[in-house]
Amino acid sequence: MTIQTYATYEELSRKTADLIIESVKDKPNPLVCLASGHTPIGVFKCLVEDVKAGKLDVSNWTFVGLDEWNGMNGSTKGSCRQMMDEDLFEPLSIPENQIVFFDGTQPNVQDQCDKVNELIHQHGGLDVMLVGIGLNGHIGMNEPGTAFDTFAHISQLAEETITVGQKYFPGETKLSTGITMGLKHFQEARLPIIMANGEKKADIIAKVAASQPIESLPASIVHMTPQAYIMVDRAAGSLL
Ligand code: F6R
Repeated sequence: MTIQTYATYEELSRKTADLIIESVKDKPNPLVCLASGHTPIGVFKCLVEDVKAGKLDVSNWTFVGLDEWNGMNGSTKGSCRQMMDEDLFEPLSIPENQIVFFDGTQPNVQDQCDKVNELIHQHGGLDVMLVGIGLNGHIGMNEPGTAFDTFAHISQLAEETITVGQKYFPGETKLSTGITMGLKHFQEARLPIIMANGEKKADIIAKVAASQPIESLPASIVHMTPQAYIMVDRAAGSLL
């Protein structure tokens, strides 16, 4: 595992985008799994800038959404899909056939998990998996206690995630479960990245960096993932 610290969020975002771009540049059909939430917005901005400047072509990428809240899809303001539509897919006019995303409004959620697991398996693993980190150490919606060997599954959200998750929505929103890629997807990805910024994330980043791999701290799977990166800005890395 490699830890990289950058002075600012802008620099962190640029370097993370560059790492992703470089890693897939020779792949014919890269499978790129990206988190929603606030952390990766700067990375999406860099990808959009590069495509608009003619420096990057993502027409052969398949974008895989990391997770979604149960009961939601792109039509709910603040959902994972809606945020990614706004910051990435719409600015880049990505067609639907290049997007794989959970739809939490459908009854066949287990079927969606099975299909995405099969897609990733057939591809030989994700090429990129970019995740943020929750204050409780979750990645995706893999909450503390999730087995390290899980693939896509339905997750019971931790109380802290339900509380902190309110920040994405215009009004108080009932959250209880979610659908998420699994920790084993992270471990098997060719380029797994945990990205964090801001001083709020300093404690959890320091805790993860110092931890043994233990299922009560999902992000500590990085210690069983030698090819993984933890990319942080100076504030999130201040207690390392
Ligand atoms: C979002 C996701 C979450 C977030 C994490 C950090 O798709 O899976 O695990 O990455 O909660 O959230 P932010 O980036 O908003 O601080």
